[in-house]
Amino acid sequence: MKKIMEILEETLKKAFAEAGYDERYARVTLSNRPDLCQFQCNGALPAAKEYKKAPLVIAEEIVKTLEEDGTFAEISAQKPGFINMTVSSGFLADYINELSKDECFGVKKAEKQETIVIDYGGANVAKPLHVGHLRSAIIGESIKRTAKYMGHKVIGDAHLGDWGLQIGLIITELKHRQPELVYFDENFEGEYPAEPPFSMADLEEIYPYANGYAKEHEDYKAEAQGAVAELQAGRKGYLALWKHILNVSLEDLKKIYTKLNVDFDLWKKESDAQPYIPDMVQGMKDGGYAYIDQGALVVDVKEETDKKEIPPCMILKSNGATLYNTTDLATIVERRKLFDPDKIIYVVDKRQGLYFEQVFRCARKTKIIGEHVDLIFVGFGTMNGKDGKPFKTRDGGVLRLEKLLEEVTEEVEKKMADREMDDEARKDAAEKIALAAIKYGDLSNQASKDYVFDLERFTSFEGNTGPYILYTIVRIKSLLRKLKEQGIEISEEQRILPATEQTQTDVMLALARWSEVVETAFAEQAPHKICQFVYELSDAFNKFYHENKIVTNEDENVRASHTVLSTQVFRVLECAIDLLGLESPDRM
Ligand code: ARG
Repeated sequence: MKKIMEILEETLKKAFAEAGYDERYARVTLSNRPDLCQFQCNGALPAAKEYKKAPLVIAEEIVKTLEEDGTFAEISAQKPGFINMTVSSGFLADYINELSKDECFGVKKAEKQETIVIDYGGANVAKPLHVGHLRSAIIGESIKRTAKYMGHKVIGDAHLGDWGLQIGLIITELKHRQPELVYFDENFEGEYPAEPPFSMADLEEIYPYANGYAKEHEDYKAEAQGAVAELQAGRKGYLALWKHILNVSLEDLKKIYTKLNVDFDLWKKESDAQPYIPDMVQGMKDGGYAYIDQGALVVDVKEETDKKEIPPCMILKSNGATLYNTTDLATIVERRKLFDPDKIIYVVDKRQGLYFEQVFRCARKTKIIGEHVDLIFVGFGTMNGKDGKPFKTRDGGVLRLEKLLEEVTEEVEKKMADREMDDEARKDAAEKIALAAIKYGDLSNQASKDYVFDLERFTSFEGNTGPYILYTIVRIKSLLRKLKEQGIEISEEQRILPATEQTQTDVMLALARWSEVVETAFAEQAPHKICQFVYELSDAFNKFYHENKIVTNEDENVRASHTVLSTQVFRVLECAIDLLGLESPDRM
């Protein structure tokens, strides 16, 4: 279905052509003075130059041909040559009625279905999740859902970090504590035990301890690095331990991600790319791209136009160990082989921006990926506490996601203490609202910006917050419930009547923007645009709700029309919050 601005533009094009002007001047935009009009066209200004006429004269001519057109309630020429337009309520209602019939409320699904891999989450096994991982999960999930909604084939990959120093540290610490474990016996030939020699709680203690110890003790750190090299070289006992670490953490991670309403299509790991490394490295050498520099194998990626220094991409360390780079490059090889994607989107902390620039350049230069594949880095800023420093939980410790969820849920429950609800419904609502508070608080900011995690504000039921949006949806749910309880049925055929006052118009105008918003949010990987829309629509709806009698309206036709309008708002809001990864409770 056409966008409202496209329809208006077509109408104006005809008018420009009829009056003898080029139709390319008929561009329509949203008004930047909504107090004066809804839409505007500024084309008479540039046209004036071409036709050597006063812009106001041109604008007046256009307006004249359109005055009788039923599209507009008001169309006028304003100095120095603007055309101000306000559509008629009949036109607007007809348009919304048409949109309502459309399955996606006007969203134009992709003409060519692309295959898109989204690399997000990026948790490291056996290491505590930090706020960066939280942001990546929240933003990536929304980008993924939006891309799927647009009709693309999308593969969300958790890309877990399981091949780095943290594994070496845990192996080393275990070896110091329990040298008798079979995993350390190089002569052991049998089957390794199926049960892991540690629990998640053990890992949570071992890793920070080993990490701290390595910072103080060079030889210990070297031992851990050696363990990583041995693991990567295939030492059996270490591989068995690594598998245990992986399984134990994975179970824990899956629980957390489920709580966050984040779900991955793939749970791939850095280690999965290892089999692709030897051929990839050989190819880089054969192609003459990689060379040895101080013992390490590197590829130059700087370009003449660079304003800042872009260091070479290191492929192998002098001890033959692979790096984060190597894994990311090999993962590109793997993804190309498995999915042949059109796009790979990385949702990672923006401080890794330079790193990804190197990786992308190296991938293109060494031809492991074709020019036609888009490699996109969506870098996000830091979630800070009120002190302006990276967020910590109340007790000052590293962020435990469950802890954060618990804290926020508690806060929401406090606010809902006076509600008459049974405990189960209250708990369900509080969990959904808490998640909305956290996620919306994050997503409503442009991803690349830092933001302050403000528990008080994020959990407020008023203002531009997740709870406010859910509150609006719950309000409509309850309205529809009331009608049902009163036995009032609204037929499918029922149409929305032309608006009789401003708040009705505003709701319709907001609804009309939905398709544009989703399409842009997808094209720009910008969930904050969906948030902005959702807030404006909610706000418009709530004003409409206060100004108009809906359930109790004496006029049956008006009641039905308002109900259908509310239902359409509900439908669009539910769809929008789903793209943000939120769910609405039935009551709150
Ligand atoms: N595990 C990494 C970290 O914690 C994030 C992974 C991002 N994705 C990637 N393909 N490198 O920083």
